[in-house]
Amino acid sequence: MADQVVLITGAKGGLGAHVTRAFLEAGAQVIGTSRQIAAADFASPRFTPMPADLTKAEDANQLAVAVLARFQRIDVLVHVAGGFAGGSPIHETDDATWDGMMNLNLRAAFYILRAVIPPMRRQKHGRIIAIGSRAGVEPAANIGAYAASKAALVSLVKTAALENKGSGITANVILPGTIDTEANRKSDPGGNRSKWVSPEKLAALAFYLASDAAAEITGAAIPVYGAGL
Ligand SMILES: NC(=O)c1ccc[n+]([C@@H]2O[C@H](COP(=O)([O-])OP(=O)(O)OC[C@H]3O[C@@H](n4cnc5c(N)ncnc54)[C@H](OP(=O)(O)O)[C@@H]3O)[C@@H](O)[C@H]2O)c1
Repeated sequence: MADQVVLITGAKGGLGAHVTRAFLEAGAQVIGTSRQIAAADFASPRFTPMPADLTKAEDANQLAVAVLARFQRIDVLVHVAGGFAGGSPIHETDDATWDGMMNLNLRAAFYILRAVIPPMRRQKHGRIIAIGSRAGVEPAANIGAYAASKAALVSLVKTAALENKGSGITANVILPGTIDTEANRKSDPGGNRSKWVSPEKLAALAFYLASDAAAEITGAAIPVYGAGL
């Protein structure tokens, strides 16, 4: 992974920080993006912060242009950015919740994939790894907007795999169960953490999917449910 150019969205979030550290420790050039991100977030000369609001097409496009201008290529995209809103059945879900989930979990993915796939096609090489959710393939009551947005993300990533078959690009989506993040520990202090998924292990899987060893894996939606299965 040394000197590979790796773009990580949601780079300093609960999971994203582990993903960023895994790639930095392996010697990659890491461009970390989110709406607010700074060089001080990761103490490495190979970390470059590039802020962007990925729900805006212009931001996603400018981000890809800026990465290419500085590093000439984008070898890997790990699209971690996303979020959760829920708690109501469909008939009580407001437009803001629906739009928020579709914008953050689906529209942002579309924008960043649309921005990075052309340079990856020119390079004849690329690795796309997106973070979906177990809820994207196993919906549950009261999380309709979130689950639908993550289900559509699975479809989008599989489509990217099909459209870029034979062009050196792989595209896969990881489907975590509840992740053992600080935010989840705070919001659910009584939760059964033995059933939560380790962010380090998710980062290791993302790293593997970005490696040469995973060149034959594409179009996969990989469940990572841990003991929560
Ligand atoms: N936590 C879980 O239990 C769990 C379970 C299954 C799947 N997931 C998925 O795993 C991924 C990471 O979850 P997490 O718990 O690490 O989330 P998190 O801590 O909330 O981090 C989300 C990241 O996305 C960034 N972000 C939010 N809105 C953005 C926007 N409009 N444009 C660009 N970046 C934006 C945030 O940074 P800024 O605020 O600076 O923009 C932050 O870095 C998400 O896709 C989530 O859906 C999480």
